Amino acid sequence: MEDNVVTKAVNERYARAVTTGEEMCCPTGYNHEDLRTFIPEPVLKVSYGCGTPVGLTTVQPGETVLDIGSGGGIDCFEASRRVGPNGKVIGIDMTDEMLALARTHAPTVAANLRYPQSNVEFKKGHAEAMPVDNDTIDLIVSNCVINLAPDKSKVFEEMFRILRPGGRFTISDIVADQPIPRYLLDDKEKWGDCLSGALQIREYANGLRDAGFLGIHQIGFIPWRVIDGIHFLSLTFTGYKLAETPATDSSTFATLAGPFSQVTDERGRTYVRGTPELLDARTSTLLHTPGYQPYFLFSDTPIGLTPSHPRWQAIMPEEAPCAWKGHFAVLTGPFMEAHDDDAHSFHMGTPLEICSKTLKVLQHEHYQPAFAIMNRSGETVSAETGECQPTSGCC
Ligand SMILES: C[S@@+](CC[C@H](N)C(=O)[O-])C[C@H]1O[C@@H](n2cnc3c(N)ncnc32)[C@H](O)[C@@H]1O
Repeated sequence: MEDNVVTKAVNERYARAVTTGEEMCCPTGYNHEDLRTFIPEPVLKVSYGCGTPVGLTTVQPGETVLDIGSGGGIDCFEASRRVGPNGKVIGIDMTDEMLALARTHAPTVAANLRYPQSNVEFKKGHAEAMPVDNDTIDLIVSNCVINLAPDKSKVFEEMFRILRPGGRFTISDIVADQPIPRYLLDDKEKWGDCLSGALQIREYANGLRDAGFLGIHQIGFIPWRVIDGIHFLSLTFTGYKLAETPATDSSTFATLAGPFSQVTDERGRTYVRGTPELLDARTSTLLHTPGYQPYFLFSDTPIGLTPSHPRWQAIMPEEAPCAWKGHFAVLTGPFMEAHDDDAHSFHMGTPLEICSKTLKVLQHEHYQPAFAIMNRSGETVSAETGECQPTSGCC
């Protein structure tokens, strides 16, 4: 289908939804009881997001936040509360009916928050060409919208253009575990349902990286639907437009503490657990972003770690038989490649089948933030146990 046909179908679908208030889309985690204290009911009724990109503690008072595909305004109004009266929020949407609804309720939200005037502006525009100046936004949020845009590369480029250096995004969106087949790509209704336009996790992260973002990693996921064997997940990603840093040496050393035994960052540099690496200034900036930071020990002098060091982390599988129950693990960043202590090599965005022992390892609090895990088995599986040895490629 041509891009303009998709966009027209999506536009009509969401224009209709404003009047019908139909149940649509996906799981979100907002506490509507809390939001009801300051957001009018008609806005909450057309909440069509798939995550809580603004319900995160990353939104700071005084910031300028931009919401791509603001719909009835739910995320903008929550951002308005979080940035406070000195902050600013911009909502962009292409659907007139959604914009009208959001604008109608902005003064009530401001009054409920006891602000002298609304700090939210709703602008008509397309995600692929946002009516916003370069380098002006601190934080971009978006809730279940980019999957609806036919040209995602343009959206990612626009995001990079409008963010100030040092700025960041937090977006919740629907992704798939495999390519969307042609018969779904050609289905207008399924585009509107946030299915046909879903990218694979790897494509999504690569698109963001190609636009210039780094430090890309998941901060949450929710399994959503399985259609014709395709698993759709709601994934919340964050990432950074790093400030320009000269490629000069720094005096900072980084030592990978674990739980991975080896990792490769987004610029292709590899780190082995326990071995200190002198960083250049650009790499130091990258590794200090929140996705990378917890895995490293930073120091002014080289610190080598051995297994007896309190910061050394290694999580071994238990001595038990392996049972295969249909689980697949997807590394969701920030690393491009990562190895565990049981001969697994995980590649960003690529599902890898794992057995019950590995599932338990990856559910450990140190591994868990780096993975989305799904079960692809269609029916109950026998889960016979098998003999496994590390390096046998079995578990
Ligand atoms: C699934 S709704 C989500 C709305 C809102 N973010 C929420 O959580 O309730 C998608 C919204 O994105 C808007 N939209 C879809 N594609 C867009 C595009 N390419 N540019 C701008 N807005 C778009 C639609 O008009 C609709 O309001």
